Amino acid sequence: MNDLIKQLEARLAAAGSGNAKRAAEELAAHVMGCRPLEIYFKTITPEQQAELEKLIVRAEQGEPIQYIIGHVDFRGLEIRCDRRALIPRPETELLVQAVLDNVDATPSSRTKQTKRDPPSPKATARRDEGVASTLKIVDVGSGTGCIALALLSELPNAEVVAVDVSSDALALAKENAERLGFGGRFTAVQGNLLNVDATTPSRCKQEKRDPPSPEATARRDEGVAFTFFAEASLDIVVSNPPYILSGVCKTLDPSVRDFEPKLALDGGADGLDLVRPLVEQAAWVLKPGGGIFLEIGYDQGLAVALILKDAGFQRVEIKKDYAGLDRIVIGFRR
Ligand SMILES: C[S@@+](CC[C@H](N)C(=O)[O-])C[C@H]1O[C@@H](n2cnc3c(N)ncnc32)[C@H](O)[C@@H]1O
Repeated sequence: MNDLIKQLEARLAAAGSGNAKRAAEELAAHVMGCRPLEIYFKTITPEQQAELEKLIVRAEQGEPIQYIIGHVDFRGLEIRCDRRALIPRPETELLVQAVLDNVDATPSSRTKQTKRDPPSPKATARRDEGVASTLKIVDVGSGTGCIALALLSELPNAEVVAVDVSSDALALAKENAERLGFGGRFTAVQGNLLNVDATTPSRCKQEKRDPPSPEATARRDEGVAFTFFAEASLDIVVSNPPYILSGVCKTLDPSVRDFEPKLALDGGADGLDLVRPLVEQAAWVLKPGGGIFLEIGYDQGLAVALILKDAGFQRVEIKKDYAGLDRIVIGFRR
């Protein structure tokens, strides 16, 4: 096995793979049905070797290992991934953590306490009535659904609407939600940021049917983007939007540029084409005290923080990733 891995490592390195040894081990483990380190204690069968050869050829052509294997670990959940959606990144796990760290700061703070402590009888009664204890979250640009599903797994009283403009990504997110057993609290809808398609499931349609308040109408007349979700109806808007500058997209590593959906990457001339309208819409749909949580490019922290402040968000904060780079901006509605 050592010799085989060395040969495969050399082939993948020659093809430009960043961590060729790890990639060879992971692909071997995938066909052998074990963990990467266990391959050295097993014998590979001729059938497995033939299968491995096919996967190595795909990797030599630049296809990301995660697409070849078909899944990634995201905060302990096995998230299926393929070319329909962006591969979930470790940095995005920090975005989920930022939400979890701040649930106590939102109007539905009971949710987190419910997870840690036994709920009070009053809280249980209210939950049984189906009121108040539900944390309403929208994940904008949900891709595989990784953020939405990680939040559902860690917040038992949350309901998440996952919005994506891509029907392919939405189909994958739904598959992930059903396979992981979150179907009941997860709704996938097609839409442009917080303006979602009229063909959405009934729970969302209900909100759309509500007539806009006079204040809402006034704001719409002022030119504020009118969103699908009712005004002040959500506790959390979370998003890892496309934020790479159009000019930079062309220079990305071919394994990203040629395999991951362009729709998931390209954020326009300065990378913030989607962030600006999303923040404006979030200021509208969030409840007072509700939070917006955005993943950003390493050099976009100050610009996005300013966009949030201009939209009236308070307690705006820039958070760093594992490499010490700006990666997340959060803020709360007045
Ligand atoms: C960077 S990916 C993030 C995917 C996933 N949330 C993650 O963190 O791995 C951005 C996602 O936004 C979606 N998207 C792009 N433009 C959008 C829009 N105008 N409205 C909603 N979703 C959009 C893309 O299809 C893609 O799935």
